[in-house]
Order: sequence, then C-alpha cells, then structure tokens
Amino acid sequence: MTKEPTWSQRFESALHPAIAQFNASITFDIELIEYDITGSQAHGKMLAHTGIISPEEGSLLVSGLEQIRKEYRTGKFHPGIDAEDVHFAVEKRLTELVGDVGKKLHTARSRNDQVGTDTRLYLRDQIQHIRSSLREFQSVLLDIADNHIETLIPGYTHLQRAQPLSLAHHLLAYYHMAQRDWERLEDVSRRVNISPLGCGALAGTTFPIDRHYTAELLQFDEVYANSLDGVSDRDFAIEFLCAASLIMVHLSRLSEEVILWSSEEFRFVTLKDSCATGSSIMPQKKNPDVPELVRGKTGRVFGHLQAMLVMMKGLPLAYNKDLQEDKEALFDSVKTVKACLEAMTILLREGLEFRTQRLAEAVAEDFSNATDVADYLAARGVPFREAYNLVGKVVKTSIAAGKLLKDLSLSEWQELHPAFDADIYEAIAPRQVVAARNSYGGTGFEQVTKALKAARTQITVE
Ligand code: ARG
Repeated sequence: MTKEPTWSQRFESALHPAIAQFNASITFDIELIEYDITGSQAHGKMLAHTGIISPEEGSLLVSGLEQIRKEYRTGKFHPGIDAEDVHFAVEKRLTELVGDVGKKLHTARSRNDQVGTDTRLYLRDQIQHIRSSLREFQSVLLDIADNHIETLIPGYTHLQRAQPLSLAHHLLAYYHMAQRDWERLEDVSRRVNISPLGCGALAGTTFPIDRHYTAELLQFDEVYANSLDGVSDRDFAIEFLCAASLIMVHLSRLSEEVILWSSEEFRFVTLKDSCATGSSIMPQKKNPDVPELVRGKTGRVFGHLQAMLVMMKGLPLAYNKDLQEDKEALFDSVKTVKACLEAMTILLREGLEFRTQRLAEAVAEDFSNATDVADYLAARGVPFREAYNLVGKVVKTSIAAGKLLKDLSLSEWQELHPAFDADIYEAIAPRQVVAARNSYGGTGFEQVTKALKAARTQITVE
C-alpha cells in the first residue's frame, strides 16, 4: 500500500521509508516542542490581531496549541517519523484537535522562519540556565576560597615550581574565567534574542503581518531587518558554541589540575568517596572520574562548534536543509555544558578536600622563593639582573649541596653579597613570600581578601 504523500498535490507518491527516516528530525527536534507551541501561539494571535483570520479562529488556534502542550507534558503526545519534524507534528495534531481552522495556522509563515524562532527561544532559555549554573559554580569557588586565604599552594609555570600562592588566589582565577563566561553569554543573548518570525520562506509574505507584534509577544528585543538574513543566519548558534567551548576550556583546565592534584605525585587533594570511583581490578585505586569525564567531554563541544562552522561556510542564501544539522550540535552542547557545570560544582562542594598539611610541606621544600632573594637585593639597590644572576649561582650550589635556600648560614649569604642581613630568612619564608606580593591583582593575602570581597559583591549584585 502506498502511503499518502506529505506534500502538496505536486507529489504523487510517498517518500521511500529510508529516505523518510533520513530526512526526519522529529527524533531530536521534539526538544523544541514547547517553544514551537509558544511561537505558534504568538503567530496565531498576530494573524487574528491583523485581521488575517478571525478572532474566534485565533482563539481556537491558541487553545488547541495549549492542549497539545498539556498532552506533551503528560506524556500523551508521541509523534512518529511520519510527522517528519516537530513543526509538522504540532500542526497535524492541531488540525485533529480543532478541525480545519488548524490548517490556517501556517498562513504567512514558513517552517524556515518557524524553526529559527523555535531555536532562538530554546537557546535564550538554555543560556539563562547555564548562566545560573555558572553562578553556582562561582559561589562554590568563593566558599572554598574563603577558607583558604592563608593556605599556600605551589604555583607553577611550565608545570615547574615557580612561586607559592594563596590557594584562594588560585581558585579565584577560575572564578574570573567563569565570570567572563557569564558575561559572554549575556552578550551572545543579545544576538540570540532577535526575531526571524515573519521572514517567511525567504522573502517575507504577501499578508499584512505585524512582525513587531509577535516579537513583543515572544519577548524578542528586535526583529531581523532582512528576511533572507533572518531565515539563514546561524551566527547566534555559532557564537553560543564559542561561548560554550570556552566554558569547557575552563572546566577542563580545572579538571586537569584536580587530576594532577589527586595523584600520588602531588597529593594536594583527597577525593571523597561520593565523587570518585574504584578500579575493577586494582583494589587500592580511587579514580578522579568526574574531572576526567569533564576533560573528555570538552572535545564534543569543540566538535560541534567545528561542525557548525563547516556546515555554514558553503551555504548559498537562504534556507538549506543542511541547517537542520544545527539542532543536535546545540542540544548536545547545552546538555554537556550543563552536566559538566553541575558535576564540577558538586565535586568542589563535597567531593574533594585540600590537604593543607601536605600543601604547607610542599611550599617549604623547593626553590620557589628564589625570586624573593633577588627582589631582596634589588630592593637594596643591587640592579635586578645582577641579583638574578647571583641567586642563580646560589641555587646551583645549593642543589649540589642538597640544601634549600633557608639552610644557608648568614655568613654564606653575606659572602655572596654584603647587602644580606638576618632578615633574609623572614623574607624567604613561604608565608612572607606570598604576603609580599601585594601588588594589585597579586597573591598577597591583603589583595586576595579584597578580591574575594569584590567577587562576592559581584555575584550578589549582578
Ligand atoms: N526540520 C527542519 C529544520 O530543522 C525545519 C525547516 C524545514 N524547512 C524546509 N524548507 N525544508 O531545519
């Protein structure tokens, strides 16, 4: 038995079943259903408002659509592949529910402006969810930082011990990355929140529609000024994927640090049982699965960004079916970013503990105070480069002698340079090394305390 063609009477037979499957997006774009309903309700209201349909017809469309929303929410609406996509599925169900007037809904509209509207409404919502998850993540970072202003941790460059830091300062670095992510998403939102509804298939419509009316109903800030651009623009999705990729970069860098810190080589943190897993064969293992998964999932989001860029680059105006590929990229990225933010927030809140004793030992057992010796001499008039060379020499001889700088006697110091005095020991003690970096934005405790306070205000006020 041949199935009815989906399309106009131009078509005589139905799609090949495999092609129908290939063409369909309903398996994933069902995610857009509530936005599709909301967008269609606004369109229906506008059709009545402008007199294109009667007020009674308008209300029938709106209430029928609301009925579909209810059916969907209660698990009673399961459109199949034959619906092709969410837009057809909703329109078909509407006609079943309200009769022939349902067939008027698509007046002065195309799936091209419709899908663009749905996707923007979806993304606008998701961006707000992600922004509030970022806020939670930031607030946990601040909670931990509050408790560790005076906890020292080795600071690295090239993954070599460089200078010790306040642990709070280290955590605040991630706070600031997240702050930029939060701001970036706000900026992306501005370009997401533009209405393509009413652009039609590509050229606008012959009906006297009111695009500003639907934009207002849907709380869009603006409308696309060019119908071709409106239906074929996916810049907003790419911008979102850029912002999402940067969030993942930041989460992945933190993940990498947690993985290193929890290793036997560092031993800076202990993973709690609630956020770590064991090995099926090695009974001694406790694995940092959460940060590893976050680091691993980062690739998917970068991949989606790349896929979208490549998908767009050769598209002639206006709509092309290639654009259907934007959905899974967006949905999976949104899902991934949300899940990773949530997991990292839990991990920080209750899944790891900093080993303060071990950290204190770590900062006392290296040459990360060497710059402070050079600074000590420079502050006493010795040109910095000269002081730097001198200290390099002491480090070399100390390593050879199996000593640290704090082990040198005062006479050894003075032999090196007469400017050294007994206060050199205080100057190179780890706590002082950190405290002394009191330049704006530095790791000095005073600066960190101020930075923490400013950060707290930032997330409460904004
Ligand atoms: N499912 C389609 C998409 O996601 C809807 C728009 C289809 N438009 C068209 N002209 N075939 O892009």
